[in-house]
Amino acid sequence: MTVGEIFELAIKLGTSADPRGKAGVEKFLARQKKIYEELPEKRKEDFDIENLKNPYSDTRILFGDPTTPVNKVMAGIDFDTGEVVLADRMNEKGEGIDLLIAHHPAGAALASLHEVMDLQVDLMASYGVPINVAEGLLSERISEVKRKLGPINHYRSVDAARLLGIPFMCIHTVWDNMGWKFMSEIFEKKEHDTVGDVLDILRKIPEYQQAIKFKAGPALFTGSEKNRAGKVVVSEFTGGTEGAKEIYERLSQAGVGTIISMHTSEEHREEAKKHHINLIIAGHMVSDSIGANLFLDELEKRGIQVVPASGLIRVSRISSKKVVAGK
Ligand SMILES: [Fe+2]
Ligand SMILES: [Fe+2]
Repeated sequence: MTVGEIFELAIKLGTSADPRGKAGVEKFLARQKKIYEELPEKRKEDFDIENLKNPYSDTRILFGDPTTPVNKVMAGIDFDTGEVVLADRMNEKGEGIDLLIAHHPAGAALASLHEVMDLQVDLMASYGVPINVAEGLLSERISEVKRKLGPINHYRSVDAARLLGIPFMCIHTVWDNMGWKFMSEIFEKKEHDTVGDVLDILRKIPEYQQAIKFKAGPALFTGSEKNRAGKVVVSEFTGGTEGAKEIYERLSQAGVGTIISMHTSEEHREEAKKHHINLIIAGHMVSDSIGANLFLDELEKRGIQVVPASGLIRVSRISSKKVVAGK
């Protein structure tokens, strides 16, 4: 495969796991096209035309020629300059890493992370929050995220990859969509009696088993294991970053009893508690590893070797070979 083919595969798999469904993704792209077409001519050249075909602003080839052939990738959660230099050092020793794949975005993909958050509007609507309410609550949060991300040094790791000549991409919402789909099929398709029952299932998933050994496994942030679980949703696995904290009140009114989330702020935790939601924090790196592993399995199936790094708990579901980072 080439760098470009891996990227195209990411967009395809991200779309087929998208909570909006393929039709919802097409509608999103159509809205982008309309925005572009309605721009005055002099502003059109500033529009990122990648947005017309790629629904994930946070999933991009950050550096490198798309036609470069790839036999081996280094994949992980956060790639800063350190990881880029690490790959270069490993290549000096003859490792032969052709491509770096990070989960968390860098470069333009980080600077435009807020753009992908629109996905949460449809996701919350699918859990019973009226779409106008979900959109209204989220719009202020999206502009807050945009302001927060603005001052960051977005291009540090991209510059390191460019200077060392190593192709680099980030795959963010695509992997989170894949992780969300995997988890929603386990937890949302059937009824659970207690919160403890939900946690028991979670703890049996191999990535979480490993995370428990790393002392970074699932934890209950509000509620009790003895509480009735009610309707369980995996509402905080995809959609860029944390949504609006006011959503808990609406989810609670819509009949949600338990939320499985990757991570949360204290402010969000307090809101969830106030509205009697059982909040299971599954763990950040480990939850990001779920979607990563499903995608990396697809690369392995196509003959690509995977070197896990940067906090990725690598579990292969095709070879039942467990390679664990951080041991
Ligand atoms: Fe993620
Ligand atoms: Fe993450």
